[in-house]
Amino acid sequence: MSDIDLNNELAATVMARCDLLATLSEEEGRLTRRSFTPALRRANDQVAVWMRAAGMQVYEDAIGSLVGHYPADRSGASTLLLGSHLDSVRDAGRYDGPLGVLVGLAAVERLHHAGSRLPFAVDLAAFADEEGLRFGASYLGSSVAAGCLAPALLELQDADGITLAAAIRAFGGNPALLAAAARRPADLLGYVEVHIEQGPLLEAQGQPLGVVTAIQGATRATLRLAGTAGHAGTVPMGLRHDALCAAAAIVLAVEQLARATPGLVATVGQLSAHPGASNVIPGAASLSLDLRHPDDPARRAAVAELRARAEEIAAERGVALAWDELQSSAAVPMAPALRERLARAVATTGHTPVALPSGAGHDAAIMARVTDSAMLFVRCAGGVSHNPAEAVAVGDVAAAITALGQFIDGLAVA
Ligand code: GLV
Ligand code: MN
Ligand code: MN
Repeated sequence: MSDIDLNNELAATVMARCDLLATLSEEEGRLTRRSFTPALRRANDQVAVWMRAAGMQVYEDAIGSLVGHYPADRSGASTLLLGSHLDSVRDAGRYDGPLGVLVGLAAVERLHHAGSRLPFAVDLAAFADEEGLRFGASYLGSSVAAGCLAPALLELQDADGITLAAAIRAFGGNPALLAAAARRPADLLGYVEVHIEQGPLLEAQGQPLGVVTAIQGATRATLRLAGTAGHAGTVPMGLRHDALCAAAAIVLAVEQLARATPGLVATVGQLSAHPGASNVIPGAASLSLDLRHPDDPARRAAVAELRARAEEIAAERGVALAWDELQSSAAVPMAPALRERLARAVATTGHTPVALPSGAGHDAAIMARVTDSAMLFVRCAGGVSHNPAEAVAVGDVAAAITALGQFIDGLAVA
């Protein structure tokens, strides 16, 4: 079979596998796969079957990220790490995360098919939590691989009051061994992640593949407002301390600041009111904040400004505000040498490699702390993501498999 035919066949398999994984969900009729859930267990088990069939030795690390190991042609060789994540947002598309895992797997299948062993091992990581849907903090899987998971995060609770530590244990992991699961920089050649672009630039340029220049920084926080619950019919408007009204004013302040600040994007994606009855003034409310900017000082300044504004709003309404910053990640440039290699690999497919920044966060931003990291973006329809309408073309996936294969072959002869 020619290389082109093989890559087309592998791309069709990737598409079918994305379809299959999309059925492994916590919710009927839509894809929601939070970390450490039975749905993620089924996804890990399914991908493990495919990894073994591709000649990989398979294990789960201490947080439950699935790792396939394709051995080198010699002992003591270093490792090229490929990866992405298998958890999802709520009502997700089927490509954000799984596409990167499965294109990485296709690259290993090419090697296995040819009976090739390389002067380095290839590991493929399917990270257990990147989206942060369940515990509010993201990149948990890659943070363990990079040895930078803050131990305090183990006490975070999900909506059912289950701690991260308990969820990891129930999944089969071991919170006590997280630090020991860190990859050693000296063992790694680099980390490469394939991902849908999640933006419109590739489509606008008519190109299927892009090479990421940098991943913008992000801050995530939970804001809790405590007012006074009361009777919706008896408490006069002037005497209320309505926590939800304060939250609503803060939501609009978030939008106002982001609209007025070049480069800033800020989102409140979760909002809840308590006790949650139509005839009770909300005594408590909480909201999530996700704030991003390519420039770190600008992001920090925006967080400070927003916090001051939220405190003002709460004070004006006689409501207490607690601001918990869950996570802050700096903007991360991708490694120039790997970018250059990826761009050359894309060029061999006959396409122009588009250099572009990533507005979304990725495991690559975390892995860059321990090894040279780079990302290959694949065009997605309309730039749509975090939405069940996510779509990629099988031909673009074939191009990504070809480019990743060329990249790996290039490293092998370097
Ligand atoms: C991951 O999808 C993120 O950027 O939040
Ligand atoms: Mn995502
Ligand atoms: Mn993703």
